[in-house]
Amino acid sequence: MKIGMLMSRVRVEEKLLLQTFEQRGISVDLLDDRELVFDLHHGEQMQTYDVILERCINHSRALYSLELLNSWGVRTVNTYEVASICGNKFSTTRALIAHQVPTPRTMLAFTPESAMQAIETLGYPVVLKPAVGSWGRLISKINDREAAEAVLEHKTVLGTYQHSIFYIQDFVDKPKRDIRTFVVGGETICGIYRTSEHWITNTARGGKATNCPITPELDALSRAAAQAVGGGIVAIDILEDPTGELLVNEVNYTMEFRNSIDTTGVDIPNKIVDYVLKVGRGEA
Ligand SMILES: Nc1ncnc2c1ncn2[C@@H]1O[C@H](COP(=O)(O)OP(=O)(O)O)[C@@H](O)[C@H]1O
Ligand SMILES: [Mg+2]
Repeated sequence: MKIGMLMSRVRVEEKLLLQTFEQRGISVDLLDDRELVFDLHHGEQMQTYDVILERCINHSRALYSLELLNSWGVRTVNTYEVASICGNKFSTTRALIAHQVPTPRTMLAFTPESAMQAIETLGYPVVLKPAVGSWGRLISKINDREAAEAVLEHKTVLGTYQHSIFYIQDFVDKPKRDIRTFVVGGETICGIYRTSEHWITNTARGGKATNCPITPELDALSRAAAQAVGGGIVAIDILEDPTGELLVNEVNYTMEFRNSIDTTGVDIPNKIVDYVLKVGRGEA
């Protein structure tokens, strides 16, 4: 089987994946997105691959590459569809709602005035997020009208076009933590709590990871969320609301997992490799 890994800098995750392939005696071609040149007229250069695992850091590079590869009939993990939905919080929320997966109430607006109207309709506090972004960057919790005016003015004056797409969400008063589960090929393989004194609980922002047992409820919700965005290998961010209801906050693709292997005792890289081989054989 011919396997490629599309990547940029080799992070801890890519290193673990490459080690796992090597331990299993499987060779992998590294396709570095900093050096790649796709000849749009010649798909055959890539059609020799049975499967390509996408591990780019940059969302746009992943999107362009996956669109092209899939259009040439090359199987990828994840697919272009999954990357394009998960890479955009608006698209993710839309897909979750369409599949009846519980998610925080969210509004979309395009001007500061209409955004203010949406914020006041939801009621404070609200969370404002860039539609495209990760690691908890540039997301704001807005507690009152004065803060809303300030953030909207800053975005309008200082922001790029991206910041004029206002994604506005109910703040979920969760218990100093959120839950992240990992779904690989339709199976919820493990989960972690991310606990923080800060309302932003990303481990990249100091959230502490501990094991989160997968209950039947978490399993069903995680699989439903993964299915809503098109399956593959994804990580689901879940918020517990004060009544105990579980809400899917977002779905991530090309996720990091370095903090979740020892914490959960689950060999995430081997699970990923198993799934990549399955896709390569045309069985998934
Ligand atoms: N609506 C919300 N209510 C409460 N906490 C939230 C909400 N949205 C995000 N958070 C917190 O902020 C973190 C980062 O937000 P998220 O939407 O996952 O963006 P990112 O893509 O940057 O991870 C979440 O893990 C959660 O802890
Ligand atoms: Mg997140």
